[in-house]
Amino acid sequence: MSADWVRVCALSELLPGETTVVWDGDTPILVLNYDGDIYALEDRCSHEEFELSAGPFDAEEATIECVLHGSKFDVRDGRALNAPAYTPVVKFPVKVEDGAIWTCDDRS
Ligand code: FES
Repeated sequence: MSADWVRVCALSELLPGETTVVWDGDTPILVLNYDGDIYALEDRCSHEEFELSAGPFDAEEATIECVLHGSKFDVRDGRALNAPAYTPVVKFPVKVEDGAIWTCDDRS
């Protein structure tokens, strides 16, 4: 992994069911707390690149829905669950260190 980690926020600032967005360079990263586990996805729908963060996060189903055309994605692995999106959203690494959440765009 060549990228540097980006600090998202304190772990205590992202409660279960909450989301936030950080940037790693030009990459928007959607960070979610699903039932105490933190996940990071590119904040860009795989259908037409709309911001996923504009849509609702279903913290029971672990899905986020793109508001543009209604595709849902599993926040744990980014896979598309229904049309019109078929390809997964890019998933990024997450770590919790020093009481804070970190992520990065690890594509070189
Ligand atoms: S842009 Fe997200 S479903 Fe079309």
